[in-house]
Amino acid sequence: MDSSEFLDFLSSRSSVRDFTPSPLEEHEIDPILSSARTAPSAGNREAWDVVAVTDGEVMDALAEAALSQPHIREAPCVLVVCANYIRSMSRYGERGILYAIQDATIACTYMMLAAHAGGLQSCWTGAFDEEEVKGILNLPAHIRPIAMLAVGRGKMPAERAARMDLSEHVHRDFW
Ligand SMILES: Cc1cc2nc3c(=O)[nH]c(=O)nc-3n(C[C@H](O)[C@H](O)[C@H](O)COP(=O)(O)O)c2cc1C
Repeated sequence: MDSSEFLDFLSSRSSVRDFTPSPLEEHEIDPILSSARTAPSAGNREAWDVVAVTDGEVMDALAEAALSQPHIREAPCVLVVCANYIRSMSRYGERGILYAIQDATIACTYMMLAAHAGGLQSCWTGAFDEEEVKGILNLPAHIRPIAMLAVGRGKMPAERAARMDLSEHVHRDFW
């Protein structure tokens, strides 16, 4: 794949919030999870973990914790991507908090793109009550939920979300 094909691949992804109830097969979920292992991480500490949720009752509770966003209930699979503070703070101290959040964010990005590559749709979901999610999933104290990735089969929106002009983001040499 050359860089223009890569950009086309990235540009062809959109967040999808309407999913069919059709369950995902293990062979569809496994490559998504495996993709996260290829992500870079601070000091190669891999300070991320993921809870792959397919149970309807757990999904109901997660949807409630995610401000009742329906796509969390309707997707056949929700990947709750977490920062593992012990793995990074044991080497990097306070700075390890930031590294673990970055590790989890990159892992989630890879999984989102792997879902896209596998012909599936997803929606990154960051609006949720962390304490509620920790309780529902029985997460230990050092595990912080960073993002939920709803994955399934859905319909791409008719229009891609608009983006700011690149020049609004990019600063050359100095701000
Ligand atoms: C950190 C983060 C948090 C997000 N939280 C939510 C969310 O809680 N609910 C939702 O429907 N979409 C959420 N999104 C998806 C964005 O709305 C979406 O990526 C953005 O509008 C651009 O659209 P696109 O993904 O189709 O390009 C989130 C995305 C990111 C990166």
